[in-house]
Amino acid sequence: MEMIYLDNAATTRVDDAVALAVNEVFLESYGNASSLHDVGQEAKRHLEGSREKIAAYFGCEPKEITFTSGGTESNNLAIRGLAKANPEKKHIVTSVIEHPCVLDTCKDLESEGYEVDYLKVDEQGIVSLDEVREKVRDDTLVVSVMHVNNEIGTLQPVEEIGIICRKKGVYFHTDNVQGFLKEDLALASIDLMSISGHKVQAPKGVGILYIRNGVKIKPILTGGGQENNLRSGTENVPGAVGLAAAIDVDFKIDEVRYSRDKIIEGLMKISGTRINGSLTHRVYNNINVSFYGIEGEALMLMLNEMGIFVSTGSACASTKLKESYVLKALDVDEMYIHGSIRLSLGVDVIGKEDYIVGKVSEAVEKLREMSPFKLPLEELGVGGSELGEGKIKGVAREVEDE
Ligand SMILES: Cc1ncc(COP(=O)(O)O)c(C=O)c1O
Repeated sequence: MEMIYLDNAATTRVDDAVALAVNEVFLESYGNASSLHDVGQEAKRHLEGSREKIAAYFGCEPKEITFTSGGTESNNLAIRGLAKANPEKKHIVTSVIEHPCVLDTCKDLESEGYEVDYLKVDEQGIVSLDEVREKVRDDTLVVSVMHVNNEIGTLQPVEEIGIICRKKGVYFHTDNVQGFLKEDLALASIDLMSISGHKVQAPKGVGILYIRNGVKIKPILTGGGQENNLRSGTENVPGAVGLAAAIDVDFKIDEVRYSRDKIIEGLMKISGTRINGSLTHRVYNNINVSFYGIEGEALMLMLNEMGIFVSTGSACASTKLKESYVLKALDVDEMYIHGSIRLSLGVDVIGKEDYIVGKVSEAVEKLREMSPFKLPLEELGVGGSELGEGKIKGVAREVEDE
């Protein structure tokens, strides 16, 4: 049976060349980067070389890159670290569709007396710049808005949000875990940015927080004083090398985007189907699709039996079987929310678009046959998306034009 992994937003397979680079460090340059002897200094060279490569990629200074254990820690360090260093500022602005590691950090700070404003999103899943302007105050500590949403793949206007914050003298942080190496991002208006290795074919357990020179921040992990005193703990040199090596991975972005649009076009031929989130402001490899009247979990399990691996909502929410707060924020009809799955594509999708559409259609049909309800599928029709048929046809046209 053919196996197709379509859950790259949850995590990715480590790239072969990245694995080789990491393995070499495991076996040959295993020293503690803080040790002063030659073995330690060899590891330190790898660590600093990786930092320089990542800094060159972003066009920033190496000392603005702090290695962490991943996206969760980077987001915690950004928000809690700013809070510790700037105790007079007690207001935070974020959006309702952030990853739980941002939302729960904000909730935690609320319980400590902080006031948090949660920006709404429109039905396409995008925040409004006017609302950002309205919410920012003199005592705002930070505005934290993600670049790419992990469930629906929508892109936020983060560079513009950064400009608003800069003008108002407020720090701007963006969670770029789902955007790194996928969607360009200029750091000019960004003060802090989180990324994670395992979403880009590097190992799990490594990430970075970009911290612009001059930002007032304090560590949340204390101890040996590594990472310029900002993140204590023995440096994860193999992880850092892997993260830097991922910069050279060819993600075949244009080809995968073409596959995504072809699959969307195919899926929209199934009646009672809806694509969630903007079709135009969307990361190249995300499809979040809902099928009216079925359970996303049942569809995911049936596809699993067919060798196609997808997820329902976000990987973190999928173990909790709660309805997606992201889709709720987009005001998606409950019947569609429950029938949603996320396909996050990698290069192995190329050329398999028709196969995937065929298997998903077969599974949806089977589940609908099993449904105890009489579903109004004829009424919903083909391309019954609130995003409108026009937009879907627009996608098809772009595909044909290429
Ligand atoms: C948008 C976003 N932020 C943060 C994280 C957390 O990253 P990590 O798994 O590296 O802690 C994830 C992972 O699912 C994510 O998708």
